[in-house]
Amino acid sequence: MSASHSLPAVASHYPDRPQFSGFMKPGRVEGEVSNLEVYGKIPEDIDGTFYRVMPDPQFPPFIENDPWFNGDGNISAFKIKDSRVSFKQRYVRTEKFTRERDAQRALLGKYRNKFTDAVEFKIRTTANTNVVHFNGKLLALKEDAPPYALDPESLETLGPHTFDGQLPSLTFTAHPKFDPDTGEMICFGYEARGDGTPDVCYYRIAADGTFLETVWLVAPVVAMIHDFAVTENWVVFPIIPQVCDMERLKQGGEHWQWSPETPFYIGVLPRVGAKPDDVKWFRYPNCFPSHSSNAYEDGSGNIVFDLGLSEKNVFFWWPDKDGNAPSPESIHSQLTRFTIDPRAASLELSAAANVQVLHNGNSEFYRLDDRFATRPYRHAFFDLMDPALGTDFPAIAPQLGGGYPLYNSLAHLDLDTGETEVYFPGRTHMVQEPVFIPRRGSKEEGDGYLLALVNNYASMSSELHLLDTRNFTTALAVILLPLRLRHGLHGNWVDAADVEK
Ligand SMILES: [Fe+2]
Repeated sequence: MSASHSLPAVASHYPDRPQFSGFMKPGRVEGEVSNLEVYGKIPEDIDGTFYRVMPDPQFPPFIENDPWFNGDGNISAFKIKDSRVSFKQRYVRTEKFTRERDAQRALLGKYRNKFTDAVEFKIRTTANTNVVHFNGKLLALKEDAPPYALDPESLETLGPHTFDGQLPSLTFTAHPKFDPDTGEMICFGYEARGDGTPDVCYYRIAADGTFLETVWLVAPVVAMIHDFAVTENWVVFPIIPQVCDMERLKQGGEHWQWSPETPFYIGVLPRVGAKPDDVKWFRYPNCFPSHSSNAYEDGSGNIVFDLGLSEKNVFFWWPDKDGNAPSPESIHSQLTRFTIDPRAASLELSAAANVQVLHNGNSEFYRLDDRFATRPYRHAFFDLMDPALGTDFPAIAPQLGGGYPLYNSLAHLDLDTGETEVYFPGRTHMVQEPVFIPRRGSKEEGDGYLLALVNNYASMSSELHLLDTRNFTTALAVILLPLRLRHGLHGNWVDAADVEK
């Protein structure tokens, strides 16, 4: 039998859907541009590389209404030195990418449903969610598989990375945390024994790549654990009430289904030396936890956990069993603080006793000065949507594309004073996730720069906007790219001083 007869048909162009239109049209560029145009001045003390990744499908999918983040991971690197910026971009050569390129067509089916694939893959990952620097390598991450390792200079793919066979889990979070003092990487995988399994595998990896400990847990529900949080002594697992069912997968359905009956579970585990039974699954009424900002312990030993929280299902493209989903415009995530006593006998959390809204704007993609990760911190930076800032929505609407929430400004919240500063990049612009760059020689928290990729819908090209946190509301420099980079997910700043020579 000829294989071509059994493969699902593919189109020669991307679907006429919001997630493949306008600014969201896949770009699929690989290459280099040196000396990007700079308007303004890049301070000479900035020396390092901003890495980020976007889902960028190299071929049109054969899946109806494929979500925007099922695309191949395409890594962008912006190297800043001597006030100049060079740009490099290269796809991660995953098994999926390589086999599809050989076949010259899409072979992967639905997001996280292997039963819908056109061929059998060993590793299905698109490596499209985050890129971190660890032990001399870049790791391209997506939560359904092991990392792919890349060379930080050339962005060449080195291959799937199992830490010399130490990786105990089939999966690896896209949001590992780093201890700022030791460089230890704290990680987990969920559905860690394969699709539909409730197993969570927690592990800590020393800065030299040695596994320090592994703890296997069982979650109360098979559901998404996208981000998590770490304090000096505790690890916190927020479970998104998007649930997986193997029967649905086998029937070709979606991996995830919103479950309004499922509470928001927060797992709490000692960071070091835990046994599987030590985990406590706290419960809070159904809602959608998004990205973490930070976590730490207060003077009473309580866990303080800051994250985005929405009453509605942020992943509206995965509705509940009856097909109900909120309209994207109605979704509102707020930076929210949970204070949890890890020794409490009761596992029930309540708004009155445990929750405080830190910022009531619609926000996401929280970042901090990473030197204060897992510790008490004062400064939170994030993407904010504030329609009152003056975005020209009618002008940009035809080019927006869609399938994802949009933010029109960058915010800095001082958690001590409660005051917020906002940077508005322009009337035809939307922002992507920022990264914080410490000022060279300064140990003061939040003293440095904020850098973010910005979508300009008037020029239909991308820009980097660089802010000084001492003068947050005006850009120090705007750096122009001669091309459009689709909305991405996450990235990180890697300072030249921190890279092993
Ligand atoms: Fe994420």
